[in-house]
Amino acid sequence: MTSANDRRARFLQEMGVGPVWALRDSRESAVPAPVIATEPVAQVLAEPIPGAAAWPVDHVSHAALAGTSTVPDAVEVAHMDWNQLRAAVAVCTKCRLCETRTQTVFGAGTQKARWLFVGEGPGYNEDLQGEPFIGAAGGLLDNMLAAMDLKRGVNAYIANIVKCRPIDANGRDRPPLPDEVAACLPYLERQIALIQPDIIVALGKTAAVSLLGLAPDTPISTLRGIVHRHADRPLIVTYHPAYLLRKPEEKGKTWRDLCLALTTYAGTSTPG
Ligand code: URA
Repeated sequence: MTSANDRRARFLQEMGVGPVWALRDSRESAVPAPVIATEPVAQVLAEPIPGAAAWPVDHVSHAALAGTSTVPDAVEVAHMDWNQLRAAVAVCTKCRLCETRTQTVFGAGTQKARWLFVGEGPGYNEDLQGEPFIGAAGGLLDNMLAAMDLKRGVNAYIANIVKCRPIDANGRDRPPLPDEVAACLPYLERQIALIQPDIIVALGKTAAVSLLGLAPDTPISTLRGIVHRHADRPLIVTYHPAYLLRKPEEKGKTWRDLCLALTTYAGTSTPG
């Protein structure tokens, strides 16, 4: 029978790190002390604005039933509940990505998750199936989560910066453009406000710069190893799993980032 420790060892091996990184015994000595970010807190669009009109419950469903497009503004999005938000995303036509999508990819996991992992945007498989991170990169992400004793659907929520698959002229995946990010970000900000996670892990540069409100050309190397803030919660930056599939030699650095996330979480979460 396979023990939890054996399983953990397998995940860590997949992450390209040896027993030196084993969580329980060496976390304090192996993980560098957190550096607190000095970057400005990202602008948060999700906080309900007092006095602003609430998004009418019927608006989204009627529009969806009628097959019409709906373009709620950021204030309306900031007042939506889960069902309204999900319905609004499903029929969103705020940017050009709606023209080529098969379906939107809202996010996955428990709405009470303490951990939020944010990727870039759906790829080919996610666009077909409507779930985030289900291809090869998703398999690696699940192993990264398992190495942290996390599991999507149990204690982690997985979302993306954009909800529709960005493709280039040849139909290949591409990063979202700044205007696509700007159009979609209020949906993610509302998800964050509804989940209220204790910590956010940004997977890759697109997620990091979008959530932190930084210039798109900010090198990810300058963002790793730092405890950033997104509104009032910590945000850790690490490499995107798809990048790690191409550059497995970077998995060790990623594990350091995840250990920083674990120690940061341990310092911020309330026991029990
Ligand atoms: N890459 C992402 O950033 N998100 C997904 O959902 C899948 C691949």
